[in-house]
Amino acid sequence: MSLDRMFDVTGKSVIVTGAAYGLGRAYAEIMASRGADVTLLDINGDQLDRTVDEIRDSGIAGQVAGAAVDVTDRTALAEAFDAVAARQGGIDVVFANAGVDAGPGFLTPEGRRNPDGQIDALDDAHWDKVIGVNLTSIYNTMKLAARHMKAQGRGGSIIATSSIAAFYVDGIVGTPYMPAKAGVSHLVKQLAMELGRYQIRVNAICPGPFITNIAGGRMANVEDRQAFIRWSCLGRVAETDEIKPLALYLASQASGYVTGSQMVIDGGLILRPAQEID
Ligand SMILES: NC(=O)c1ccc[n+]([C@@H]2O[C@H](COP(=O)([O-])OP(=O)(O)OC[C@H]3O[C@@H](n4cnc5c(N)ncnc54)[C@H](O)[C@@H]3O)[C@@H](O)[C@H]2O)c1
Repeated sequence: MSLDRMFDVTGKSVIVTGAAYGLGRAYAEIMASRGADVTLLDINGDQLDRTVDEIRDSGIAGQVAGAAVDVTDRTALAEAFDAVAARQGGIDVVFANAGVDAGPGFLTPEGRRNPDGQIDALDDAHWDKVIGVNLTSIYNTMKLAARHMKAQGRGGSIIATSSIAAFYVDGIVGTPYMPAKAGVSHLVKQLAMELGRYQIRVNAICPGPFITNIAGGRMANVEDRQAFIRWSCLGRVAETDEIKPLALYLASQASGYVTGSQMVIDGGLILRPAQEID
């Protein structure tokens, strides 16, 4: 098979959750620009409409649609999947991506104790929200993807956005974020094992720091990203466009023998020496 053929996603039916901004938008852009039919789902309807219009206007080859959906609402999410399957002729690729930040951790970037981030001060509703969006909704999304793909009988690719937070603990990231992403990465491995016999591949993208809208666009602020720049082997944070080749690889037949993998894309940040803790 030629390289072009391996990376070909023309006519594939794709869903991306959390696609109004950031990494989800980048996934949608690369898939649409390569001729896939893409539906973007997001809780932020206004921004979603703008993003869909901008992608359409960028001269892409495939069809693009959007639907305002909260991924924690199982009924609404299932209806959105059914609508996409009917409109796009099934579902071949699903990016389970929507996520939120978890606020400050128990340490400041300078390594001092942050009173609000301590476990005994953690708001239970905050824990429930972060686990609900960042872990349970990934389960909701992957379950629906599996249901459609198994019924279709033509395989598929499910790609979850996890994080390097799945592999290490970090005091400056809000505590609920870490077990949520560890859970996502473990769920990916579990489902890869279960769904392989149906030729449904399940993989995780584990990003380090990318400039997106997460945490109110914190990474766009030069001061806020200094700690990440210091810790990255490459001395910088990443632009969302840099996720696109990996997304295309995992969505296409180029990764036909890849399942259950954890694709780290972090500028080597995970290799940094342990932080000092006061
Ligand atoms: N940016 C990074 O540095 C980074 C690093 C590691 C992992 N991630 C992960 O990448 C994924 C995407 O984050 P991002 O950085 O692009 O953030 P972002 O804020 O730019 O985009 C996230 C999108 O998800 C949407 N969303 C949030 N809650 C939702 C819900 N309940 N239902 C539907 N949509 C919802 C938001 O409206 C937004 O459009 C998340 O899972 C995040 O944890 C990001």
